[in-house]
This record gives sequence, C-alpha cells and structure tokens, in this order.
Amino acid sequence: MSTPSTVTVRAAAKINLHLGVGAVRPDGYHPLATVYQAVGLYDDVLVADAAAWSVALTGADHVALAEVPQDSDNVAIRAGLALTAHHGIERAARIEIHKGIPVAGGLAGGSADAAATLLALERLWDLGTSDQDLLRLAGELGSDVPFALLGGAATGHGHGEIVEPITDKGSWWWVVVGNETGLSTPAVYRHFDELNTRTGETADDPAIPADVITALRTGDVDLLAASLDNDLQRAALELRADLRRTFDDGAEAGALATLLSGSGPTVLLLCRDAEHAREVAGAMLAKGHGHCWAVPAPVAGAHVVDYD
Ligand code: C5P
Repeated sequence: MSTPSTVTVRAAAKINLHLGVGAVRPDGYHPLATVYQAVGLYDDVLVADAAAWSVALTGADHVALAEVPQDSDNVAIRAGLALTAHHGIERAARIEIHKGIPVAGGLAGGSADAAATLLALERLWDLGTSDQDLLRLAGELGSDVPFALLGGAATGHGHGEIVEPITDKGSWWWVVVGNETGLSTPAVYRHFDELNTRTGETADDPAIPADVITALRTGDVDLLAASLDNDLQRAALELRADLRRTFDDGAEAGALATLLSGSGPTVLLLCRDAEHAREVAGAMLAKGHGHCWAVPAPVAGAHVVDYD
C-alpha cells in the first residue's frame, strides 16, 4: 500500500468500575488500583504531514471546546513531540480532533486524543514503534493514556499507567450523564487529600476487590451493580453538591447502580440491557439532564478508521 497522506484514528472514553486511591506520593501522584472499561463515546483524530505542529478542534454540540488548549500544551501535540523525540526525527503534523467525549468530564477525553495521535502518527509515518514503546510513551503523557490504546477492560496500577487487560464477557449498557460545567482532576485529588487531613483518616493501600473482576468474567450485571466503587466520589460531591441531584435522579430513573466517572462530574448509570438504557436515558432527559447517552461497553481501544 502506498503511504497515506492522512490517517484517522478513533479512541473511546474510559470509565473506572473500581477506583481505589491511596495517600498522595512524594511525586504528587496518588497510587491507584483501578478497573478500567472503554465505553462507546469517541473522539476521532486525523493527522497529516505538515511543516509545523498545529491542532484544530471541532466537536459535537455538547463539547466545551474553549476549555481545550489549541497550542503546544495540547496533549495531542505533546504526543507527537514524544513520538518524534523517541525516534530522533524532525517531523511535524497537522492534527484535527473531532471531539465526541465531553471535556473535563472524568472520561479521559484528552487521554483518548493523546493515544489516538500516537497511533495515527505511527501509521502515517510507518515508524515501526513496538507496542511496548507506544505504551511507555503513552504512560509518560498521562495516567489514562495507556488504557486508551488498549481499550476493552483492564486493571490499572501505579498512578493508572500500568495496565493489564482482563476478561470482560459482559454486554454492558451505561447511561452517561454529562454536566455543563467541567471539574478539574487535580482539584478533586487535592480535595481528596484535604478530606483525609481533616478527618485524620489515612487512605489505605488501594486494592481491587475480587467481586468486580468476577462480575466482568461472568457478565453478572447484578454483581457488577453491587461492586462499583469510586474513592474520589466523596471529594467530588463536596466540591459539587449539585451532583447529588443527578445521583438521585439516576436512581429514580431506575438505574441498577450509580457511579461517579473518574474524578467527575460525569455520572454513570448502570443498566440491564440496551432497552433499559434507552428508557433510563429518556427518563433522565425528561428530568432536565440534557446531555445523556446510552452507550455499550466494553468497546475497542484506539484503532484506525480511515486512510487517504
Ligand atoms: O496523569 P494525568 O496528567 O492524567 O494526571 C492529571 C493530574 O491528576 C495530575 O497532575 C495529578 O494532580 C492528578 N493525579 C493524581 N494521581 C493519579 C492520577 C492523576 O494525583 N493517580
């Protein structure tokens, strides 16, 4: 096949079915024991050879594009710089990101863009980067970037960057309830620390309970509903009391379980199947939650969807 002039890669949003968070480390990160799952909300990233790095953003109408940096602070450009530095080459690209994943939502949209950019440039330039090197570069770009490459379901350790695929036999359906106002991940972690200081509690060494792994291995939705957990939920709810209503509305709408997505403010409603998810999404819309999506999980990690 001749060399493509553009490559488009699609990457999915992530959720954390279990998010165990330990006490802050000297490097400022928190040790995590998490179970990631990729869900059906996507960003598409197109790359083309160019004389200088640039990034352009378009988005679905629910996406607050103004909050995304459009210069070299953008994690997609940082991904490009990391890849070219790794190979010692002087190349640059135009990057076009079409966002379907809400910004600052706790769904790792920026990490999806970084992972998609790494893979798209790897294919555009045919660099022969090993999977191992791609995962390592991804981990240096952000805690959730390696999982965005992998997709499916995986455990995450370290500060989230050490990922290991796990068996997920379920055909899960979630209603993802977005929020107009984003929440800063570092701010939620800082508040988690403050809460521990205030209460005198020390965060335990995080571990992944067996039940959540069993639920995925067997596809048991009731067991999954009973085993969902997020250690950041309390801190996020203190920062954003308005989210309580979303949780209450989700329970009233008939969700099997409610869960904060990552550091929030997105709220996840576990549903029994596709039909149930459509009903719950309809009920949430009727309660005034304008941005909600019924999505399947698990879905694939970053993958090429178009060559030109
Ligand atoms: O790795 P990433 O860039 O996604 O992390 C963003 C911020 O979230 C970090 O700078 C840190 O403040 C916080 N964080 C943390 N512990 C983690 C992951 C992220 O404190 N395990």
